[in-house]
Amino acid sequence: MARFYLTTAIDYANGDPHIGHAYEKIGADVIARYRRLAGDDVHLLIGMDEHGQKVAQAAAERGIPPQDFVDELAGRFRAMWTKLGISYDQFIRTTDADHKSGVRAFIKRAHASSPDDFYEKTYEGWYCVGCELFKRENEIADGKCVIHPTRDLQWTQERNWFFRLSNYSGFLRRLYDERPDFIQPESRRNEMLALLASGLEDISITRAKLTWAIPFPLASSTGETQGTWVWFDALPNYLTGTGYPDAVWKQRWPADLHIVGKDINRLHSIVWPAMLQAAELPLPRRVWAHGFVNFAGERFSKSAGVKLDVGEAADRFGADAFRYFLLREVPFDADGNFSWERFEERYESDLANALGNLASRSIAMVERYRAGAVPAGPRTAVDTADQADVAAYHAALDGGRGYLLHEGLQAVWRMVARGNEYVDRQAPWKLAKDPAQSAALDETLASLVRQLARFAVLLFPYLPDKSANLWRQLGGPGELGAQRFPDLMSLDPTGWNVSKGDSLFPKEVNRE
Ligand code: MSP
Repeated sequence: MARFYLTTAIDYANGDPHIGHAYEKIGADVIARYRRLAGDDVHLLIGMDEHGQKVAQAAAERGIPPQDFVDELAGRFRAMWTKLGISYDQFIRTTDADHKSGVRAFIKRAHASSPDDFYEKTYEGWYCVGCELFKRENEIADGKCVIHPTRDLQWTQERNWFFRLSNYSGFLRRLYDERPDFIQPESRRNEMLALLASGLEDISITRAKLTWAIPFPLASSTGETQGTWVWFDALPNYLTGTGYPDAVWKQRWPADLHIVGKDINRLHSIVWPAMLQAAELPLPRRVWAHGFVNFAGERFSKSAGVKLDVGEAADRFGADAFRYFLLREVPFDADGNFSWERFEERYESDLANALGNLASRSIAMVERYRAGAVPAGPRTAVDTADQADVAAYHAALDGGRGYLLHEGLQAVWRMVARGNEYVDRQAPWKLAKDPAQSAALDETLASLVRQLARFAVLLFPYLPDKSANLWRQLGGPGELGAQRFPDLMSLDPTGWNVSKGDSLFPKEVNRE
């Protein structure tokens, strides 16, 4: 069985989960579920980034010790991921004891393998606590970080440990050349190529006086122990999550896929590979940098202060509808918008009308005309035409062209439209009135249920709860998640016993 190890960014524990965080976890979950249906042995790692100034400041504002603060937030994030149906296999926290010792072991190994890449230097510059990064001139506008304009930059002058990132330009250029799909999508790869062309600067990897951090494992010449810069603590989570430095790490590492937002692509496509190379460890296979979900022209984030509660959005029409909306509306390779109007429109037209009605009327007709038992019927033009869409679905999700999750949904809804045209054309309610048309009625009902069974499987990655409900109403055998793609086009529901349940997508949900 092929292993597939995928990760998401670990979220900063400085505030509640928001729609931006949710978008990434839902996208990763779709890929994880897709790979499980493809038969892979999947491991999805998600978690929390709990150290650093940003988190320490947020805890101080609440007036509670940072550990209590992050414990509380970790609970809230986990509850949100459960609510949204995220099928994660592991939840890592950077305050876990294993992670802390793993990071120290990793840094020691990098230092032992590449001693010249670590040096001490007195440095001064503007530090953005929002980014947890020193900022260059061209990243500052009106005295503020362009990404976090509500925060003040800190003028920082201290003696720190540095990592000689500048040594790695040639290495990274070769890496991108030899493995053109190391960074996807293409637009994000081009951004990284442009950064390489503009030259890499060495990076400060410790912070003086930062106590809410993993103690940096190399002693400073001044004798003080500094705190590990939060990105040098956070990036190795993908490795410590496999058990590193315990030998078991080799069973899972390297990661097949890191899913991150475009704002932190540089950390994952430049800094992280250089860190691993310094430690002489294998590199991940791919970084996928998705875009942003915006609301009223602003991106969701704590600092931007966009007020739209992710829990409320998920409650509006249920978690699956929320998953559907985000992935249908926001292309996984670009930015997109969240809007309540579009959400309502899509819920009604795509989910309640197109899919929901097709399912409920097909199931009702099998009950009414065939006492609930799905009749046998030959392949129809619908099955033949669906084949191309099923192929498009796989092409969107199997990684060959990257991860175009929105295209997977477009492909399924082309089939849903075909199903609706078919049922209107066949008019089974007319066929049922004429006993001479009994074979035609069987053929129609069989074709409809066959299609619905396919939809259940194809939609399991996107709508885990609703698709399982559909599978039950169709009388499909066993757990939907136990189905495998290779069997999809030969899936034969003859003899299944359907039973109409509650409407999959009721028209009135939580409407005041
Ligand atoms: N803690 C770092 C990541 C460390 S990974 C070793 C971090 N945390 S974050 O909480 O700010 O963001 C977590 C993820 O959510 C990132 O991949 C980020 O790009 C993503 N998003 C944050 N806001 C977003 C949107 N508005 N839209 C989509 N994703 C966005 O960065």
